[in-house]
Amino acid sequence: MKTLHLIIFLLNILLTIGQSPDVLYDELFEAVQIQRIFPDSKTFCDAIPRKLNPNGILDLYRQEYNKTTFNLTSFVFDNFILPNTTIIVHDKWTIEEHCHRLWPLLTRTTKHEEFSSFIDVPYSFVVPGGRFREFYYWDTYFTMLGLIRSNEWQLIDNMLENFADLIRKNGHIPNGNRYYFEGRSQPPFFSLMTELVKKTDKYKSELELEYQFWMNKRSIKLDDGTILNRYYDDLNLGPRPEAYLEDKEIANKMNNTDIYAHLRAAAESGWDFSSRWMEDEKDLSTTITAHILPIDLNCLLYHLEIILNKQNEAERRRQAIHKYMWSNDLQFFTDYNYIKKKPTNRLTLAALFPLWLNVSTKDQAENVARQVEKLFLHEGGVVTTTSTQSTQQWDSPNGWAPLQFVTYRALLNTPGYESLAQTIRQRWMNLNERVFQNTSKMMEKYDVININKTAGGGEYETQDGFGWTNGVYLEMLHDQRSTSNSIKYGQTFFQFFFFCILTIIITEVNY
Ligand SMILES: *[C@@H]1O[C@H](CO)[C@@H](O)[C@H](O)[C@H]1NC(C)=O
Ligand SMILES: *[C@@H]1O[C@H](CO)[C@@H](O)[C@H](O)[C@H]1NC(C)=O
Ligand SMILES: *[C@@H]1O[C@H](CO)[C@@H](O)[C@H](O)[C@H]1NC(C)=O
Ligand SMILES: *[C@@H]1O[C@H](CO)[C@@H](O)[C@H](O)[C@H]1NC(C)=O
Ligand SMILES: *[C@@H]1O[C@H](CO)[C@@H](O)[C@H](O)[C@H]1NC(C)=O
Ligand SMILES: *[C@@H]1O[C@H](CO)[C@@H](O)[C@H](O)[C@H]1NC(C)=O
Ligand SMILES: *[C@@H]1O[C@H](CO)[C@@H](O)[C@H](O)[C@H]1NC(C)=O
Repeated sequence: MKTLHLIIFLLNILLTIGQSPDVLYDELFEAVQIQRIFPDSKTFCDAIPRKLNPNGILDLYRQEYNKTTFNLTSFVFDNFILPNTTIIVHDKWTIEEHCHRLWPLLTRTTKHEEFSSFIDVPYSFVVPGGRFREFYYWDTYFTMLGLIRSNEWQLIDNMLENFADLIRKNGHIPNGNRYYFEGRSQPPFFSLMTELVKKTDKYKSELELEYQFWMNKRSIKLDDGTILNRYYDDLNLGPRPEAYLEDKEIANKMNNTDIYAHLRAAAESGWDFSSRWMEDEKDLSTTITAHILPIDLNCLLYHLEIILNKQNEAERRRQAIHKYMWSNDLQFFTDYNYIKKKPTNRLTLAALFPLWLNVSTKDQAENVARQVEKLFLHEGGVVTTTSTQSTQQWDSPNGWAPLQFVTYRALLNTPGYESLAQTIRQRWMNLNERVFQNTSKMMEKYDVININKTAGGGEYETQDGFGWTNGVYLEMLHDQRSTSNSIKYGQTFFQFFFFCILTIIITEVNY
């Protein structure tokens, strides 16, 4: 009898390892989310069992939930340890010290958390902060920019190894290392990360595997045979566990569960949510991400093809981007709706990816640069989209560190627009500094139009920490100092030259 119990116990453990909390806790999960036990739907997803294992908790719930004295809130607090939110305020540090010194406070491992929703990875990693207690795929590229400036080389190696490990096991890098993110990835920056530290050769086979994932699971063939890619989520049937109630409410409003696939695809894009994916920019329930071939994704895959020496595929993709995603009317790159067979014509900073990753012509780049100056540049940097109707977080008036960085580097890459690039860099850094002075915090996003405000909009409160903001700030600071140093050296050189001439003249006169 004892052995039988032990076997059942072990089987239970095996069956519950590696499952998403919505699967593990079934109707308990649904009840906690629908009754809004926590204001943030992600909280319960990251909770860990206090004493019983998940099956034990579910059994107990099934025995007790019908009792008249049952209280769900008490049940949850009795049976779960709740996750902590990383809040970091340190008023003695300068902004530069804050960015360098925060890395250790944002470093985590997945060890010693039995039955948590973490996807196990072998080494430590940096999380963004706030409610984001796990790594995020595309965030990590921008975090790495700063880790380089802080000489945190080991941490960079650790994260590359974690990603390589995930690709070997699952074929792709998940959105973040939680089981509830497993069905989707995020903008594919792995090739850019390996390039940052010159380790592209070391990870060739993993890069090839990742390429296969995007081509096998995320490609769309157009009528003329052109192949381009989209965002999607392989677990497309239900609400996202970490936004369970929010997604369900949208589906109910629509009376249509197809919306789940589109919301999940938007989460894979990293731009969750944005008018970029919405038919009606005021109405989130009109999100149609899975019908859209995004400009930024296709440029990132172009870069991956170049890295993998797939010159023919890269050239075909470059031509397809020019054919389907360049608008002569707007003189701008936009996404393409392959169901409607027409460009979405939305003006967003995703259009800077072709400039950054060398996909655009000189003429296209100059036109995009002029539009950026005219339509996107504000007091605090560049705004995400020109939509004025949307209340989503990847829209006006918000600015995000990764998009400031891409825009800045894209324009630095465009002859004649280097000073615009530097203006964007300076305005963004000034805004970071301004808010830091006020709050001692670095934010997830900023209001770039009204620089007197801290940013808002979207599914949750603005988070602080913050991984990619710190990374981009440190990288921009490094650039700023190199530019002013070269000006300084330039001046010194000029002064020296002038001094020599003067000496010669004086010497000549003396003779
Ligand atoms: C709990 O209540 C539901 C109806 O509210 C009933 O169908 C079910 O049989 C009850 N379960 C138990 C274990 O009493
Ligand atoms: C359930 O328990 C929580 C905390 O344990 C308490 O705040 C709440 O008032 C209780 N609800 C009811 C309906 O008794
Ligand atoms: C959150 O922090 C508290 C206090 O430091 C700790 O007891 C608890 O275990 C932490 N929760 C998790 C999930 O780590
Ligand atoms: C929702 O859709 C179902 C099936 O398509 C239909 O029977 C039902 O009447 C619809 N409900 C509303 C409120 O539109
Ligand atoms: C794009 O081209 C420029 C200039 O040739 C080069 O410096 C840069 O490294 C290239 N960028 C990428 C991502 O290949
Ligand atoms: C921000 O505040 C300053 C004064 O503190 C004011 O002069 C400026 O107009 C404000 N800007 C906006 C956009 O509200
Ligand atoms: C600074 O703090 C004040 C008071 O908390 C707030 O009203 C203001 O919007 C903040 N400004 C910035 C730029 O964060």
